[in-house]
Order: sequence, then structure tokens, then C-alpha cells
Amino acid sequence: MAFRSIATSDRSPARLTRIIRTRAELRDALDDVARPVGLIPTMGWLHEGHRALIRQARAADATTVVSIFVNPRQFNVAKDYTKYPRNEARDLEICQSEGVDLVFAPEAAEVYPPGSDTTVSVGAVAQPLEGAARPGHFDGVATVVAILFGLVGAEHAYFGQKDAQQVMVIRQMARDLAIPTQVIACPTVREPDGLALSSRNVHLSPGERAAASILRQALLAARASWEAGERSAEALRDAIRETLMAEPLADVEYVSVADSRTLRELERVDGPALLSLAVRFGTTRLIDNEPLGAGPVTT
Ligand code: PAF
Repeated sequence: MAFRSIATSDRSPARLTRIIRTRAELRDALDDVARPVGLIPTMGWLHEGHRALIRQARAADATTVVSIFVNPRQFNVAKDYTKYPRNEARDLEICQSEGVDLVFAPEAAEVYPPGSDTTVSVGAVAQPLEGAARPGHFDGVATVVAILFGLVGAEHAYFGQKDAQQVMVIRQMARDLAIPTQVIACPTVREPDGLALSSRNVHLSPGERAAASILRQALLAARASWEAGERSAEALRDAIRETLMAEPLADVEYVSVADSRTLRELERVDGPALLSLAVRFGTTRLIDNEPLGAGPVTT
């Protein structure tokens, strides 16, 4: 199935986006494409953040592949999987308009064929924060991304820094499994009020959406304190918590100031660190982070 590009592309002639459903079709399609290949793994419901990843890939790679697959194995709560927003037709239009070459949108049985029985489980970096809050989540992420890396064989793969721990887990997985795909972390794309773009934002009520801008304010309050010379990690955590407490709709799950190389909680911030948080607004759980100093998640 092929779509004609509907928006102006910086490359001419306008490219066709090809939709691929099976491993076999994907193998054939990738046989004779121009290299390097850039992969953007997604779960669909594409937004400006995904567009930015696609644009970065298109600037660096001769062929761009977007995967769209809501991965059941990374949801530790079944309801989160069923309520994950989906709109494939709209996603395909976005891919067309961005000049994506191939969209791989498989059914679950194509990703996990009958008999598949391997789980990729990353060690220490996958344990704290999201790993602790969502048991099994990173096993699901690492497993599906390892499969996608194996199927696509891309030179580059692009992920958003909003999911900083995910980037670290995937890098560790690729390094340990000798997968040569280079993992590239791209800056978080934000709404004008600072809220990080996320497919989950669609679930926020208008009141929750307005309240959610507190996340960025809280992280920036801690950054300002660090820039003013504060090096106590607990004081930085307090700066985040105190800002969040001003918002009654914010139900804080965790606030972290960790070493950005290991994600171990710090007492003092004397090197690269990652401020991060998870907060619920009603039934919607949002995460965000802010790196302090150059570190693995910013490169
Ligand atoms: O970040 C996501 O959308 C997902 O975790 C990913 C990397 C596509 C794996 O399913």
C-alpha cells in the first residue's frame, strides 16, 4: 500500500510512504533501500515530538522507517494498554507529510510470533524510577526494541529525551547485545506552557491540562536553585516537591535527583545529574525530566 505525500517536502520529487505489515514484506522492502537507514520506533498517536524525531532522521539518513506498534508487553496495567490512544489513519498522514519512506505497522503476532519465548531484561539502569513504579515495563520495552532493531537493521534509531531512562535502557541493551544501531536521543518537544508532548496528554481534562504545566515549573525551580549553587540533592528534591504542592490536582508519585550515568539517587550533585518526576493528574500519569550538566541523556 502506498500513499502520495500530501505536504510540501524538502526533498523532491515527493516521496511515497509505503505501509508494511509483515516481517517478510519488511525484509524485502529493506533489501535495496539507500543507506543509512534511520528508525523511529513509536506506539502511534504521533505528535510534534515524533515529527521532530522524523525530521532529525531525515536530515541524517537516506531512508526513514517509522514503526507503529502499541506494545502490549510494556504495559503492566492492562487498562493502560486498552485505553492507549490509537489513530492509524492520522499517523499515516503525518508520516506521509514528513516524507517517511516506510511505515512498519504490524499486528502483535508478527512481532511476537507463536512460540516466541524470549524477554530482554536490562540490569541496574532499568531498576529505579519507572522500573520500580511500573514492574516489567522495561522488559517489554527492551524486548520490543531489540526485535525492531533486529528486523530493521538501521544505522540510527531516534528516541525522545522525555523518556530519558528509556534511552539509557535501550542503549545498555544495544551495547550488551552487540546491536550496531546507534541510539540517538533528541530534545523534548514542549507545549508553549512547558508541558512535554506525550500521547497521554490527550487523557487530561481541561483543568488537569492547565495544572500539568506545574511539572516544568517544578523542574525549572530546582534547576534555578542548582544554577544558584545549591548542591544538596535533597534541597533540589524539596524545591521540586514544594512547587508541585502548590497544585492541588498534582498527585506526586516520585521526585528524583539521580546521577545521570547510573540513575542512582544522589546526596550531592557534583557531576551530571538528572532531575525527574512522575505525577498523576486524575487517572493520567505523566513523567518529565531535566538534565543538569552534560551527561549520557543529553548526547
Ligand atoms: O517510547 C515509546 O513510544 C515506546 O516505549 C517504544 C520505544 C516505541 C517501544 O514500544
